[in-house]
Formats: sequence, C-alpha cells, structure tokens
Amino acid sequence: THQWRGIIEEYRDRLPVSDTTPVVTLREGGTPLVPAQVLSERTGCEVHLKVEGANPTGSFKDRGMTMAITRAKEEGAQAVICASTGNTSASAAAYAVRAGMVCAVLVPQGKIALGKMGQALVHGAKILQVDGNFDDCLTLARGLSDNYPVALVNSVNPVRIEGQKTASFEIVDMLGDAPDIHVLPVGNAGNITAYWKGYTEYAADGVATRTPRMWGFQASGSAPIVRGEVVKDPSTIATAIRIGNPASWQYALAARDESGGVIDEVTDREILRAYRLLASQEGVFVEPASAASVAGLLKAAEQGKVDPGQRIVCTVTGNGLKDPDWAVAGAPQPVTVPVDAAAAAERLGLA
Ligand code: F0G
Repeated sequence: THQWRGIIEEYRDRLPVSDTTPVVTLREGGTPLVPAQVLSERTGCEVHLKVEGANPTGSFKDRGMTMAITRAKEEGAQAVICASTGNTSASAAAYAVRAGMVCAVLVPQGKIALGKMGQALVHGAKILQVDGNFDDCLTLARGLSDNYPVALVNSVNPVRIEGQKTASFEIVDMLGDAPDIHVLPVGNAGNITAYWKGYTEYAADGVATRTPRMWGFQASGSAPIVRGEVVKDPSTIATAIRIGNPASWQYALAARDESGGVIDEVTDREILRAYRLLASQEGVFVEPASAASVAGLLKAAEQGKVDPGQRIVCTVTGNGLKDPDWAVAGAPQPVTVPVDAAAAAERLGLA
C-alpha cells in the first residue's frame, strides 16, 4: 500500500495531466539519493548521487517517457517514434508495450550499447539502424512524425521535459532545499533543461528557497556547446552522449547562464576514471555517459573551482548493466579453481 506510485501520481499537481488522463506508468522515479563518501572527502563537500539507473528500464528517460506515452495515448496515437543513442529507445519500447502501441526507433548503426539494443528488441520495438549519427536519426524521426501518423517522443516533445523535471522535485523534497550545485552529463541537453525547470518552479512557489548552479559536462569529442559550434562527426566512448547538435542547446545555455553555472567538457579518460571510481569506491555501477557528471566534478575540484562545504548533487543517469563491456575491458581475468577449499583460500590470499 505504500509503494511509490510513479512520477505522474506523485507530482500530479505539477504536471500537465487531468483527472481523465490515462496514466501509463512503470512506477518510475523515487530513485535513491545516495551520499557519496569518497567524492565528499575528495571535494570537501557534501556530495550526493541521484541514481537514475534505478528506474524501471535503467535510465532517467522513464520520467519523461511516462509523460510522453501517457499524453500520446490520451491523444489517440497508435504508434510512437524516437531517435536514440539507446536509452530513449529502451524506455519508449517498454512504455509503448504498456500502452498497447507500436514503437519505432532510429539508432545510429553500431553505436549503441548491447544492453539497450536488447531492451528495444525484447520489448518488440521496430528498430531501424541508421547509417549516420544521433543527429541524423533525430532529423529523420522529426521528418517521419511530421508526415506520417506517428508521435515523436524525443525530448523535443515538451511533455518529456515536464516528466524529467520531477527529479529536481525529489531532490528538494529529500534534502529540504535545493543543493548549491547540481552536476549532469549533457548530450541532447534535454535533461539539464528539465532539471533547471524543476528547480525554478519549486523556487518560484517557495518550496525551495533558492536554485542551484547547474554544471553540465559533455564528452570532449562531442562537445558542441563548449565549442560553440556543431560537431559534425562526434566521438566518445560514452555512446549515450555522442551528439554533435543538441536539440535543447539554447535551453542548456539558459540553464547555465540563469543559474550562474558552467558547461564544460571531460575526456574519455576522465570519464572512465570516474566510472571506475564510482563502481570500486562508492558501490554505484553506472554506464560511462553517466560518469561524465562525476568526472566533471572531480576535474573542477582538481582545478580548485569547488569551494569546500557546499552541498552538491551529481545525477548518474543510467545503469552500468546497459553497457557492461567497459566493466570487463581491462579488468583481470578471474582465475579458475578446483572444488577445493585449500586451493580457493590460497588464490584468495587467505592462507
Ligand atoms: N546519460 C545517459 C545515460 C543518456 O542516455 C543520455 C541521453 C544523457 C546522459 C544525456 O541526456 O540528452 O538529456 O542531455 N540519451 C539520449 C538517448 C540521447 O537517446 O537515450 P540529454
């Protein structure tokens, strides 16, 4: 009787739904806000991780997707479409099943993690691999939804942003006020837009006394906002944020400037270092793109840009199981032992 009801029921008064809206939910949201001991020690701050990989399909996309599919159903859509680096497609596919809709997804060929492809497949989505990058996929998806009877559920659909803003509500509800700094990975820039909307709404209504500075981090090979120009051939091992022309670019700049924040870049090496630190020292297994937020915080701390004593929330956006190749790569091979306690003890260094 006390189960979390999903973001639409929990925040109904702050979302564009009515009493008759047919809510499509997998009880997304209500994700853990985990104190990060090692990151707190390293920065001299109080650092928390908002663990969005704990959502039903393993990423923050579920917050936006419950809204997008709910509204598509309300409007009578029978099919939805999205472009995706993987997580949006996994989420759309699952929620479309709940709604009894057909789901079509466009993904950049060879550039999405296996776990995400498996999700879209097992949920029965119609998958087209596009000979191009995410930006090309989004162009194609927009064209199809403009000309055919299929609803677009990318974050250019404003109800996606409405759903995703609830993560900020949860953080303020949990901490009692907004943090000093909120750190996020940035790809298509929908999520930083959504968090900023959530924080500003809560501040405007007096639920929070202030808004945080928004810190966004792109991967160096896919950092159009940092460079101030479209990146034609984006590259990074963090395939989820391999995006050269973010749809919510202007909103991300607004979030940065209105909050007094920054949008900076982190290298793949820095991303992987943060990825391993999160797993091996905080016990939180995320996918590489998610570690961009933590990599950015560590980079800023090393540059002396993080004043001690602040309260900081880093969103880690997706579950590590989505893309396990990076966990296995470079790790020592497990040794094989006979069914023998003495031999096992020896290999474990116990004897
Ligand atoms: N982290 C993960 C794990 C993501 O999947 C994404 C975006 C982001 C961060 C960046 O969020 O685009 O709102 O700035 N993934 C999209 C997708 C593009 O298709 O799944 P953003």
